Amino acid sequence: MVYFLFYRYRGLFIFPWLFIFLVTVSHSQLKTDPNLGIIPAPYEIRLGKEMSNMYELSVFLDEKYANPFLDSLIGLMPSLIKVFTRDSSDVFIHFEQSELKDAYRLVIDTDRIDIEVSSTEGLQYALVSLVQMIQHTGFPLPVVEINDRPRFIYRGMHLDVCRHFFSVEEIKKHLDYMAFYKYNHFHWHLTEDQGWRIEIKKYPRLQEVAAFRKETLSGHYNDVPHTFDGQRYGGYYTHEDIREIVAYASQRHISIIPEIEMPGHSLAALAAYPELSCDPDKNYEVATKWGVFADVYCPTEATFTFLEGVIDEVIALFPGPYIHIGGDECPKEAWKNSPFCQELIQREGLKDENELQSYFISRMEKYINSRGKKIMGWDEILEGGLAPHATVMSWRGVKGGIEAALLGHDVIMTPGSHCYFDHYQSESPSEPVAIGGLTTLEKVYHWNPVPESLDSAYHKYILGGQANIWTEYIRTYAHVEYMSYARGMAMAEALWSGNKNYTDFLTRFIRHCEYWENKGAQVAFHVFDLKPRIIAGNGLPVTLEWETQPDADIYFSYHNQEFQLLDASLPFSVEKSGTFTFFQRSEDREGRHLSLNFDLHKGTQAQVTLVHPPTSPYIGQGAGSLVNGVHGSDHKYGGSEWLGFSGQNCELQMDFREKTYLNEILFRFYKGEGQWIYLPEKVELWVSEDGKDFEKLAETYDIGTNEKVATVSISYLNTHTRYLKILIHNFGEIPLGRQGAGHGAWLFVDEIVVR
Ligand code: ACM
Repeated sequence: MVYFLFYRYRGLFIFPWLFIFLVTVSHSQLKTDPNLGIIPAPYEIRLGKEMSNMYELSVFLDEKYANPFLDSLIGLMPSLIKVFTRDSSDVFIHFEQSELKDAYRLVIDTDRIDIEVSSTEGLQYALVSLVQMIQHTGFPLPVVEINDRPRFIYRGMHLDVCRHFFSVEEIKKHLDYMAFYKYNHFHWHLTEDQGWRIEIKKYPRLQEVAAFRKETLSGHYNDVPHTFDGQRYGGYYTHEDIREIVAYASQRHISIIPEIEMPGHSLAALAAYPELSCDPDKNYEVATKWGVFADVYCPTEATFTFLEGVIDEVIALFPGPYIHIGGDECPKEAWKNSPFCQELIQREGLKDENELQSYFISRMEKYINSRGKKIMGWDEILEGGLAPHATVMSWRGVKGGIEAALLGHDVIMTPGSHCYFDHYQSESPSEPVAIGGLTTLEKVYHWNPVPESLDSAYHKYILGGQANIWTEYIRTYAHVEYMSYARGMAMAEALWSGNKNYTDFLTRFIRHCEYWENKGAQVAFHVFDLKPRIIAGNGLPVTLEWETQPDADIYFSYHNQEFQLLDASLPFSVEKSGTFTFFQRSEDREGRHLSLNFDLHKGTQAQVTLVHPPTSPYIGQGAGSLVNGVHGSDHKYGGSEWLGFSGQNCELQMDFREKTYLNEILFRFYKGEGQWIYLPEKVELWVSEDGKDFEKLAETYDIGTNEKVATVSISYLNTHTRYLKILIHNFGEIPLGRQGAGHGAWLFVDEIVVR
């Protein structure tokens, strides 16, 4: 890629032979990339017929709006030279009055460039687009007019620095990345059960005690028994650090939203100041593992005084309009058991602990409003009544966001299904351990922050969306890059661009990935990995379907022989058991190899129907995923093989189309109690001759494992039947004291093998 060669030569010297490469980028090539390499895709691009005559650009930045970031952008491109007089500039910057502060107009003519903006935000975005365009198309630039503006005013990225801590330099790197993709809000998750990361001078024990934990959980929470690394871990940002980061963000037109969690996720603070809990005599320690903890702030005057003291220092450090007060995942057991809380509920005329939480948040809102700031909180702040002026961040799906918008509150959409970048991004077995789920680049790309069901009169309350990077399983900044840089580009487009086209995005995405790889970043590149849909359960042989990259072919090997598929657009029929290894290859890229081990059994040819569909997003390819001959991962449940049923049974019927001898049925169930996933209570088998009257054949309660996957066999059936009904009973309500207590358990089911 030409521009990478070019990029390495920072400074003002331009090597003549590089030009020879660059001028070979033809106008016809631009046609395949209508967005000229710019991510997020601009609102409107009108491509002229000619190319400009400029082979380098002189840029004069008036002192009024020059800043180190714009200088660094210019420094990114040796062909973009900062000059010190307007007279010698090729780029003319005009400030116009406009309501749209993020908008810009960029006009490249044959011998000059004009940028029209109404603010320095617009100027930054215009220059970012210009730099990306130069990086991607090289010189000469096409004659073009770009009119650009964002779809949403709020384009956010969050980072949890509590589960793992990131240095000032790493935060700055992250802000650089965000600015490159026109994000404008950084949600800085600063306090948690596992560590308090912001210096509060009034409360020194937050630095001495709450900022450090004695050790950290090794492996995944679902690995049992839990083991720990034995290493003291922690750190915090001083006021000095924070001022430096705030200034750095502000140069990039990024507003920082500090999050101070309350009333839950506060164990680190209680370890420092146990008197803020409902049981001050208890011994509290900064958490060493993940999850939700029952120890939370008690709504006493001492707690409000403490939190107001904290907020005073936070407000003095952060100039932005919002303070995020958390509000999520606050178990109510401690309040239920506290005579003080019960008396407070009585005294304030509250209905229950949910209303007590609302009282807590509303009281803090009042304080924060009185200091000239607005609050933002996770969607739990709706429970028990929303604080009057709060902005709601909808993370448990979009329901909370819709509810808040209907109440006339501002909303930031950040549903776990599309916005949680701690989820897996590929089903490849070589992915580093992640919390769970599967949120692919494509899924993020297609996300629409405005729910279809929301009446258009309320769309104005959806200010935008945000990607969240929770770091339980992300220990280093390189890993943050891996989890966020690729999907962050897709999210940027979901938040900025009105007209999206995934195929067009991929052409730009591939080049941007190369840019980051050249800078030494760990960017996840899964575009060339095959993602087959395995179709089964319809009474026909198992088949595979896939989409390929343009100009790529599909190959597979079976028993050490390699074959090329003649037509990758046709379904591939799996006729034999055994391991097939598929991959796609184009002229200069080869995707990762995907091995699928097919075990064709009597169920793979049956017609299978589920009585109730699985729960989104764990829906695989529907019922067929249970009989497609392929086992899901033994380590993660987020892939397309595992079907998830939230709070409900899994009930299905198989029609073998003729009387069939059955002797054994094998099941696979996932166990991940930290993520509310429980083994089923029992499994029943029923048989029928006509598909109507069923007779019970067998049942088992013998379901257990010390691993993550339980294999259960019901054997010696020795039966002939045409129809088989399987009823897998969900565990039911999660008991007190466990993660997700009181909620219905998830049931995860994988291949059901019929022999
Ligand atoms: C959250 O993920 N607990 C907001």
